[in-house]
Amino acid sequence: RGIGLLGAPTGVGAGVKGTRHGPQALRANGLLEGLRGAGWPVTDWGDLPKPGKISLSEDEPSTFAVKDWQQVLGWNLAVFNAVSQVLQHGQMPLLIGGDHSVAVGSVSAVAAHCRATGKRLKLVWLDAHADFNMPHTSPSGNAHGMPLACLCGLGPPALAQMAGFPQAVAPADVSLIGVRSIDAGEQRLLQQAGVHVFSMAQIRQLGMHETLRLALGDHGPDVHLHVSFDLDFLDPVLAPGVGTPVAGGPTQEEAFQCVRHMAAFGQAGSIDLVEYNPAKDPGGMTARLAVELLQSLLPALSAGGIRV
Ligand code: ARG
Ligand code: MN
Ligand code: MN
Ligand code: MN
Repeated sequence: RGIGLLGAPTGVGAGVKGTRHGPQALRANGLLEGLRGAGWPVTDWGDLPKPGKISLSEDEPSTFAVKDWQQVLGWNLAVFNAVSQVLQHGQMPLLIGGDHSVAVGSVSAVAAHCRATGKRLKLVWLDAHADFNMPHTSPSGNAHGMPLACLCGLGPPALAQMAGFPQAVAPADVSLIGVRSIDAGEQRLLQQAGVHVFSMAQIRQLGMHETLRLALGDHGPDVHLHVSFDLDFLDPVLAPGVGTPVAGGPTQEEAFQCVRHMAAFGQAGSIDLVEYNPAKDPGGMTARLAVELLQSLLPALSAGGIRV
């Protein structure tokens, strides 16, 4: 039981390189000690090895617009399998990236687990970006701008249907929090899909607590909350150690309010912590803040837990 920690040391989905050193740098900055110090048993499953070449009989044409498609898919299949195993051990997966594209494998594994155990998956996506591009709307071709769309069933089928059904999560059960950079194409897709979007402007109007209250909705014994935490959610002044910083993010106080609200809600059964780029974080300030925020988020796990 407890937490099953897993590293996905990759940057194949990002334009700025460096996130592949994220897992080791987070460990070097006290991640394990921090989690254990907060009272949680942790099994460290280590870092996944770089996946070998995968051979698809034929690639779907849309994948031609995804940079490093084969590797993006390879990493996600590896993450899917590993997270599925952690869940089978009755542990709560904590996936550390790596760029955010690996969340497709992670959340798809959680979705399949929820389907098998009769739970309703709610997904909270903390991010400066919407990550809701499809290959044809992406201005960059970088896969880390696409994972949330894939999880809502929009994207190359090999990713979008990884869970084994057409949508890993229903868009109405997704809340995107902290957004302040949305591309024109993904804006349209987001609206069509019906994802709940809480931009920074809205958060400043509502306050962080009311935002989370609206985002999380009702408890219920059948809810499994997955938190996918992109560190660029935080204001770059606090957390410079990311590849794609966007000004105007939550303050330290707002960030702690956010994770503490989820902690009080409980029901969390799985977490991603992604986009940490140690090359942009020479003093380790971003990593240490990430560990502190995780510590404050962890009580969210106690109420939910996972049934084997
Ligand atoms: N919207 C931009 C793109 O599609 C940036 C995405 C950044 N995503 C991230 N997970 N940091 O390329
Ligand atoms: Mn982001
Ligand atoms: Mn992201
Ligand atoms: Mn189980």
